[in-house]
Amino acid sequence: MLIMTQRFFRKYAFLSILILVLAGSTGSLLRFALVYGMPSGWGEIRHVIHAHSHTMFGWTILALMALIWHQLPQITGRPLPRGVKWQMAATFFFSLLQLPAFWPNGYGVTEIGSARMPLGAISAGFAGLTWFWFMGLYALAVRGVKNHSLVLRLWNGAVILLFIASLGAMAEPVLLLMKIDSPFIKHLFLHLFLDLFTTGWLLLALFGALWSLWDQEPSAWLPTGLMAIFIFPTFLLGMPPDLLPPALYWVSAIANVIVAIFIAIHLRQFILHRRGLPLLVKFGFLGLVVQIGAAWMLLIPSVWRWGIGALRIFYLHNMLLLWTSSVLLGLLLLRFGSQSALWRRWIERFWILGVSLMWLSLLASGVSPWLPISGRFFMILAAWASVIIVFAAMLALRPFLPFRSSHEDPLN
Ligand code: HEM
Repeated sequence: MLIMTQRFFRKYAFLSILILVLAGSTGSLLRFALVYGMPSGWGEIRHVIHAHSHTMFGWTILALMALIWHQLPQITGRPLPRGVKWQMAATFFFSLLQLPAFWPNGYGVTEIGSARMPLGAISAGFAGLTWFWFMGLYALAVRGVKNHSLVLRLWNGAVILLFIASLGAMAEPVLLLMKIDSPFIKHLFLHLFLDLFTTGWLLLALFGALWSLWDQEPSAWLPTGLMAIFIFPTFLLGMPPDLLPPALYWVSAIANVIVAIFIAIHLRQFILHRRGLPLLVKFGFLGLVVQIGAAWMLLIPSVWRWGIGALRIFYLHNMLLLWTSSVLLGLLLLRFGSQSALWRRWIERFWILGVSLMWLSLLASGVSPWLPISGRFFMILAAWASVIIVFAAMLALRPFLPFRSSHEDPLN
């Protein structure tokens, strides 16, 4: 059994943000490449998009694991299981490896000397294995715990959804090796992974990390397990409309509205408890407001069909960048960052400016056919906004240095 020091968590907060900087720089390169084309010899856009998105998932998962491992001993009253140190090191290594592994050929094969290997699929497979390792250690850490607090119930639901999403992720390389080409099966597993990871694991785990900030649970009823159950079918809404039978569309669209109501119940309580919350967390709540509004709009089949094409990237980055990344950054700085208010203020200003600009430009480029300004203008704006986001993420590395600081957790 293991007791982790503040130094350990500062190090992993730093390393997760380092991944954010590298994957964000790749995303920024892509934003420019989508307007001006990829510089020759820099790779193919579609492969680099895989490198960007897989590595970005590494940022969110490593940061969340650090937050969960930090709080779990207080909730369970037990030290962490052995192996957490190695699991975190492995998750960091394989998350980062996805960037060079996917860049040259995406899921295709890369030649190294005389060998031909699907490097991207292999690295994604290893990264996925470290997630299963995390889930196994988590199950060990909470086994037999009597106290089923709100935070623990949310994290249990999150880990179950991560398990299901990871099966979807592991299916990708398996389908490739088995040469299964059915578009329905491929999209089913892709969205099982992408959507359950985003609106399942990330959402519930972040809610848990947020509720762990308060010593006392709110007296109001807050959905946990039921929320996880209703989240499950919502991944079907990500499927291409021509592949999804109408009955399944209605099941997932209605479940999505119920989830939106559950999110609104949590959000209302967060707002009532907002005093002392980091600015970046409050900013991230805007992403949830959009998610709640979108769920109602998706009840109209024609809006769903249109949005899946025109607003997919906006919607994904609303949840992954505006909501998840803003809240994660706010929580990491609060839990493990130095107390320097000056650094924090500059990080917040640049992050909020960059993310707001990119968010607005992605939305505007999706609805540009109805606007008097061309979509290309908004794509250029999104590209420059992404530079500001990456700059903010670089600034956010500083408050975690040096790792060996005597800084105490401000909330404990
Ligand atoms: C600096 C911030 C970011 C920038 C500049 C950026 C940029 C991009 C670009 C240019 C694309 C391709 C868009 C297209 O196909 O039209 C993309 C796709 C994507 N990004 Fe980001 N992104 C950022 C942050 C994030 C974050 C924080 C995450 C996840 C945690 C993320 C996950 C994804 C995913 C899942 C896709 C879709 C991949 C696919 O279609 O297969 N991005 N991003």
